[in-house]
Amino acid sequence: MGEKIYVGVDLGGTTIKVGLCDAKGQLLKTYEGDTEAQHGAEHVLSNSAAYVRKLFDQTEYDWDQVEGIGAGIPGFMDIPNGFVKLSPNLGWRNVDVKGTLEAKLGKSVRIDNDANVAALGEAWGGAGAGIDNLICFTLGTGVGGGIIAKGSLIQGFAGMAGELGHLNVVPEDEAISCGCGKKGCLETVSSATGIIYMAKQAVADGAETSLSSLESITAKDVMDAAKLGDQTAIKIVHRAAFYLGRAMALMSVTINPQRFVVGGGVSKAGEYLFQIIDHYYRELAVENSQEGVDIVPAVLSNDAGVVGAAGLHLFG
Ligand code: BGC
Repeated sequence: MGEKIYVGVDLGGTTIKVGLCDAKGQLLKTYEGDTEAQHGAEHVLSNSAAYVRKLFDQTEYDWDQVEGIGAGIPGFMDIPNGFVKLSPNLGWRNVDVKGTLEAKLGKSVRIDNDANVAALGEAWGGAGAGIDNLICFTLGTGVGGGIIAKGSLIQGFAGMAGELGHLNVVPEDEAISCGCGKKGCLETVSSATGIIYMAKQAVADGAETSLSSLESITAKDVMDAAKLGDQTAIKIVHRAAFYLGRAMALMSVTINPQRFVVGGGVSKAGEYLFQIIDHYYRELAVENSQEGVDIVPAVLSNDAGVVGAAGLHLFG
């Protein structure tokens, strides 16, 4: 048997990414396939297992070398029992992810929240390396969060710490329903889904915008239109960034992190978006809580999830 290797599974709303890491947490190879979430949990977990097998078929590594498998799941977790209690965006309730994947793959599986594992990935070898107090946001289908305080990931009493997409930041009169069952969550405005929703609303309300000529609107379309000066798109981006800035201001007096790392598809809008987020954060956060604090893009980008998930066995 050769060196030990570790498998990471990053289960997203549209794509499942799987990867192999060595014992130092170096990513060796990845494979991606569709989640096909519309077919339900059993199908998605079968896909995850199939993609792990396919990844292996493409490498010279032997299945016996696998020391463990880690999976990052977008939802509220019961980590000790390996269950997902609720996934707002996959629509799952009480799914035995650990048991199902162990049965399908015959290896020990550890699970955690997708944004928590992304935060661990960034902390180990990304934008958070060397930073002991760190908060990561992932802006994708949902908004995920991961809190690292004094070098440790904070899970809280029942694993709900870091569910920052469900910070209730939007005032009652503007709040819309979230997949979690409540109203006014950060996720409803600062996720890709939230941005698309606001754009569709604006088009339906007859706003003058280049977005109205598109057949289907993506969050990237909105960012691109805003960069080109489209006033409707600019308003939407500012709204998404304002509430993220508000969430960061709240977290600054809760955990007082040294750094906020922002990843996920929406963050690819780059410097343009980061300047607006930074502007609102500085405006809203109490002075002493923002001193020496910076807001930076995730550097592992799409790989943070798989690296962090594989690392659940290495460093967990
Ligand atoms: C879920 C989180 C998840 C985030 C990003 C949210 O809706 O509640 O658990 O981390 O989406 O996927």
